[in-house]
Amino acid sequence: MQTVRLHTRMDGVQAPIVAVVGDLIRQVPGTISLGQGVVHFAPPPAALNIAREAVANPDTHAYQDGAGNPALLGAIAHKLQRDNAIDLARGSRAVVTAGGNMAFQHAVLAITSPGDEVILPVPFYFNHEMAIQIAGCTPVRVATDARYQLDVGAIAAAITPRTRAIVTVSPNNPTGAVYPEASLRAINRLCGEHGLYHISDEVYEYFTYGSTRHVSPGAFEGAHAYTISMFSLSKAYGFAGWRIGYMAYPEALEPAIAKVQDTILVCPPVISQAAAVAAMEVGPAYCRGYLPALAEVRDIVGAELRALEPLCTVPPADGAFYCFIRVNADADPMTIAERLIREHRVAVIPGPAFGITDGCYFRVAYGALQKETVAEGIGRLVNGLKTLLNA
Ligand SMILES: Cc1ncc(COP(=O)(O)O)c(C=O)c1O
Repeated sequence: MQTVRLHTRMDGVQAPIVAVVGDLIRQVPGTISLGQGVVHFAPPPAALNIAREAVANPDTHAYQDGAGNPALLGAIAHKLQRDNAIDLARGSRAVVTAGGNMAFQHAVLAITSPGDEVILPVPFYFNHEMAIQIAGCTPVRVATDARYQLDVGAIAAAITPRTRAIVTVSPNNPTGAVYPEASLRAINRLCGEHGLYHISDEVYEYFTYGSTRHVSPGAFEGAHAYTISMFSLSKAYGFAGWRIGYMAYPEALEPAIAKVQDTILVCPPVISQAAAVAAMEVGPAYCRGYLPALAEVRDIVGAELRALEPLCTVPPADGAFYCFIRVNADADPMTIAERLIREHRVAVIPGPAFGITDGCYFRVAYGALQKETVAEGIGRLVNGLKTLLNA
């Protein structure tokens, strides 16, 4: 009998880092995780009540419209106009997916052919690189500057005849950087001039601090024809397990998106959509209610980590709930991350997962924890880094 061939397109795709770190955490009980990018709050109670009621509705258990249920699509159209200045009537469509990750994979499958290139500013969100590779395309890494801001010139120089899209994530995972409107306009213009799609991941749209404001490139004049804007309820409404995301995309892509959606998801989970309608009725005030507490946590994280300078560099992080620190020492980030868990019971995600192959970087996520736990976790991190690096 012949053995089955195990080598596939997946060989070149990185292993899911959160699961790898999660395995280590399980081996060391009591570890505080500054690893996974989740929020600590639950969905709005109104969403949970609607979900309970939906269980009794026979329609909940049947396939429904592929793009999403009309009530949710209506709520999304309204929200896009109100919060993002994206008017679907200008020539865009919306589709509901099982989370923002699926929206990204759908978009890449819909706009590329194998061998095409997609430009990713580095550090990137690991699942974006993975999705591009799974689609048989090449992620083209372009460095950001020392503050993790976009280098528009370097991005322009990376465009080739095979480029299909430029990806921006603002507010950013893993850095917490928020891109100013001028940078997003420059990238969007570049896409327009070169016939590329601008994939704009905005799942942290409501998570900005101080006077920093989120801007949606899909709202720019003429951008609707080539901009794909993605959003998620995972962070804004504590909905990670309900798997609801959505994207606004140029209507010319509708046949392609319909093929991917029908094959991979058929329709978004019906009970989750019912809950999502109720959550969106509560609106962004829900997560904004948690922002002052999150801002306090962010201040603690920033102050503690900055005290580590010059051992660490901590660039500004005005959005999301991450910061991405550079350790100014010649050390292997994976080894340090593992020792931080085993010897200091604190978990962070090492830089290579985000495409940083040169230098020792870590992402610190602080959205999942209460203030006291974060303070304890950061204390362990600071102490652990000092000890492990003999500082
Ligand atoms: C930048 C970014 N995009 C998309 C997602 C995916 O979120 P979900 O698939 O839960 O909507 C995440 C989750 O961490 C993220 O950080």
